[in-house]
Amino acid sequence: MTEPVRQLILTGLPGSGKSTVGAELARRIGWEFIDLDDVVSVRAGRSIERIFAELGEARFRELEAEATAELRGRHRLVAAPGGGWITRPETVALLRPPARMAYLKVSPAVAVERIRRSGVVRPLLGSEDPEARIRALYDSRAELYETADLAVDTELIVDEVVTTLERWLVSEGLVP
Ligand code: S3P
Repeated sequence: MTEPVRQLILTGLPGSGKSTVGAELARRIGWEFIDLDDVVSVRAGRSIERIFAELGEARFRELEAEATAELRGRHRLVAAPGGGWITRPETVALLRPPARMAYLKVSPAVAVERIRRSGVVRPLLGSEDPEARIRALYDSRAELYETADLAVDTELIVDEVVTTLERWLVSEGLVP
């Protein structure tokens, strides 16, 4: 009998903790973790910031879709795409169904604070008023993020977020 596809996609605003939570969850349950921005960046041979500056967002979304297509059918995978991945229904449909999706919820104010502390440049946020920018992203995407199978408050410590996700995967029968 072939094994059902076991994949979890983490979605949410930049600064919601997708990469941190995803890596820790995967480690705990023994699944592979993939940060999709890293894959896209390696492929394009430049940082996400440079992809946006030199090739534009539309090209970035194409590269993101290509990287997503390669995850199809991969077993026991936690994937963390960038926060805008959810805006392309055709990209989402490459994995879901059968992949499950969890929304890591964070307020724009906390997201901006985390991003500021991380020091990583997020091209879509600009530098003028990052909080207003992330609030606008939130307003335009909240409905899409809410289509996830589970929403988790991430204004908790990482360990609590990971435990909530792990318990849910167990209750859904994806993890023993
Ligand atoms: C984006 C989020 C980024 C990255 C790119 C676009 C977005 O990823 O993919 O800068 O549209 O929200 P993170 O959510 O990991 O910051």
